[in-house]
Amino acid sequence: MSLDLLLGLQWGDEGKGKIVDAITPDYDIVARFQGGPNAGHTIEFNGHKHVLHTIPSGIFNKNSKNVIGNGVVIDPAIFLTEINGLKKFNLDINNKLLISKKAHIILPTHKIIDASSEASKGKKKIGSTLKGIGPTYMDKTGRNGIRVGDIVNNNWEKKYQILKKKHLKLISNFKQTTNLNLDLLEKEFFRGIKCIKSFNLIESESYLNNSILKGKKILAEGAQGSLLDIDFGTYPYVTSSNTTSAGACSGLGVPPNKIKNIRGVFKAYTTRVGSGPFPTELSNQIGEKIRDVGHEYGATTGRDRRCGWLDLVALKYSIQINGITELNIMKSDVLSSIGKISVCISYNIDGKQIDFFPYDISSKAITPNYKVFEGWNDDITQIKYEKDLPKELIEYINFIESFVDVPIKLISTGPDRDQTIFRNK
Ligand code: GDP
Ligand code: IMO
Ligand code: MG
Repeated sequence: MSLDLLLGLQWGDEGKGKIVDAITPDYDIVARFQGGPNAGHTIEFNGHKHVLHTIPSGIFNKNSKNVIGNGVVIDPAIFLTEINGLKKFNLDINNKLLISKKAHIILPTHKIIDASSEASKGKKKIGSTLKGIGPTYMDKTGRNGIRVGDIVNNNWEKKYQILKKKHLKLISNFKQTTNLNLDLLEKEFFRGIKCIKSFNLIESESYLNNSILKGKKILAEGAQGSLLDIDFGTYPYVTSSNTTSAGACSGLGVPPNKIKNIRGVFKAYTTRVGSGPFPTELSNQIGEKIRDVGHEYGATTGRDRRCGWLDLVALKYSIQINGITELNIMKSDVLSSIGKISVCISYNIDGKQIDFFPYDISSKAITPNYKVFEGWNDDITQIKYEKDLPKELIEYINFIESFVDVPIKLISTGPDRDQTIFRNK
């Protein structure tokens, strides 16, 4: 049948995991197409709160298959921990989860390179999650990487040792090293490799294309957000993969003409974790209040997320480069009782007003121009129908819709899968 995409439109942590989980009953297959354990996708249902890193967020739906696509990078140690964490849910996971043979593997030394590189950058560090993502994608594009399909061959450890030796040489050149213990990391790594081997390792591009021919519905789940995209994000403060819709084609091997809906998920405000520009950041009590009420702490690293107002210049840019066909607004409940709400509608840069996302966003001072909205005081977390939402929130949503010219078809009012209002638009 076809493929739908679900993407984060800001700097990650928009609530992708929640929405994938909530809409999975509409799909036969959920497939992750890029990123790795730098992602932390939170799902809440029936009193459970669970964070997934590599495993797609459709895993809790009984009827759907879940695929880790070729564009993903897998840390075997983290994968094993994730699998163990899911045991209590009795999910028949070895049958439900399929892994692409072409996905690349994060080695212990990739994590050490990541940490050493960041430590050596000092103040200029990216703020990486230190999961070895960048170095693994570097080895992929450098044509040195180890793929999931390799680990079933008996001589793969030889390849591992050669790459490890090369990495150790590289690590010795860094100004700063880390206290990560390679022996310990390797122990966990090889336990994880054993675990990966126990799964169905497949040519996922054939599986997905054949499934489409058979009339199955597939949801491609993005990780991170468009503003962290390696090409279109706030370079160099980005991740190392294409987080945008084009990344779904290369990360799954599914052609563009099979894509139908492209769902963009964004928060009613903005957050960012790690370094890099953030024009609408609130370094004041309002920012702190948003962090506090929204529990804005990293799902993977526990770091404080930086908080700020919604940036419609950035949102419009993300919508354009992804071809977004519908929007989902998350976490408006966090803005209840915050007072007046500002939304960025243009930037001032070099004394000029601009309404596009500029190349020099990482290097020049940018001042946002805001439109100010009346806030609301009602608690909206138990509201089930749009008609019961405060009129100020509806005005806010209507303005965003008309500014970006894409319908907002879902309003999330809390972290639980049931705190979701679907709109008939
Ligand atoms: P992801 O990486 O895009 O999947 O998002 P994260 O899981 O990293 O961060 C989103 C956080 O917001 C998680 O703690 C979710 O449980 C929570 N969340 C998702 N939607 C809502 C919402 O509408 N309201 C509130 N208050 N929390 C939400
Ligand atoms: P999800 O899927 C938020 C950020 C890091 C850092 C930069 C590079 O949960 O939305 P990396 O480890 O990729 O080299 O880090 O990207 N980052 C994320 N921020 N959510 C994520 O994933 C992120 N994955 C990476 O904080 O600034
Ligand atoms: Mg996250």
